[in-house]
Amino acid sequence: MAETLSLDLPLDYPVYVERGVIDRLGPIVEKRAPAHRYAVLSDTRVASFHGARLLDQLPADRTRLFTIPPGEHEKTRDRWAELTDALLAWGAGRDTTVVALGGGVIGDLAGFVAATYMRGIPVVQVPTTVLAMVDASVGGKTAIDTPFGKNLVGAFHNPSAVIMDPALLETLPPADLRSGLAEMIKHGVIADASYFAALLHELPDIAARGAQAPAFASLIAGSVRIKAAVVAEDMRENGRRQTLNFGHTIAHAIERVLEYRILHGEAVAIGMVVEARLAKRLSIASSDLVIAIVDALARAGLPIHVPAGIDSNALLAATKGDKKNRAGSVRYSLPRGIGEMESAQGRWSVPVSDDDVLAVLGAS
Ligand code: GLY
Repeated sequence: MAETLSLDLPLDYPVYVERGVIDRLGPIVEKRAPAHRYAVLSDTRVASFHGARLLDQLPADRTRLFTIPPGEHEKTRDRWAELTDALLAWGAGRDTTVVALGGGVIGDLAGFVAATYMRGIPVVQVPTTVLAMVDASVGGKTAIDTPFGKNLVGAFHNPSAVIMDPALLETLPPADLRSGLAEMIKHGVIADASYFAALLHELPDIAARGAQAPAFASLIAGSVRIKAAVVAEDMRENGRRQTLNFGHTIAHAIERVLEYRILHGEAVAIGMVVEARLAKRLSIASSDLVIAIVDALARAGLPIHVPAGIDSNALLAATKGDKKNRAGSVRYSLPRGIGEMESAQGRWSVPVSDDDVLAVLGAS
């Protein structure tokens, strides 16, 4: 059988994007992260769809499936403790590889388990949502949430391989698919106008056929290329990686105010509109940029308004808990135009006053 090919990316680990690649996962894991034991971490929903197929690829006597309930609220210290205790009880040593099968919650949590278990063991990411494919699984960020905010306890821990099978997305609820489109649109805005245009062109077909749209796999690969280029330049988010936070300062604040009763991509969509308006208000971008972003998000079926009933002052206060803020000032990564982000003296974010944020929220 021909070797499965990974994307050509500037990363230390391979990323595979191919329909059906999950049925060739065994040889990839064996090559990239060979281990005495394989701990497959997933949630009960994803495991019921794809667990058996994945387990078929690994040696039955040295592999165990560990599941948690599905949902955003599960990325907690308690689940981390439960999973690491389960690994200890199983007798897993440092010669264990974690295989993370699931969306962003599982990728982040399983990645953090791998980053911390016995001071760090390999993890292979097998994302099953669009969001996890184009964002969470690439770049080495792992974390859990705390009552003070999302992702506030975590570690950088690169995967040994990322294995994306776009066919797995066919079991994804349509709202989750749309949620992933927000991050793909973001990638076009922050780095690549031609990718943005290509995505826009395919949105009607994606709206009609979902993950079965013929262009979907290559658009995912295009999004991964953008993310990989950014994280290869700045793994630890001291510079250009901050551009990936476009839309996220407001998005995280919306998620906190709504106690996470909104999909991440929906919050990012609204956040991008608000932050694009901020860019316009600060004369960084023109109104054409706002119009282009709103148009793309609306075509993707994503929300473009701050949900009714959210108080602007509460939202503003919630932005201050975001971990990207240094020395008290809230900084935003803002676009100049499609494919280009504001930067000055090596910095990719700008401080924004409360008055400017409130003015824009008042109009959003
Ligand atoms: N999700 C943003 C990043 O990976 O930096």
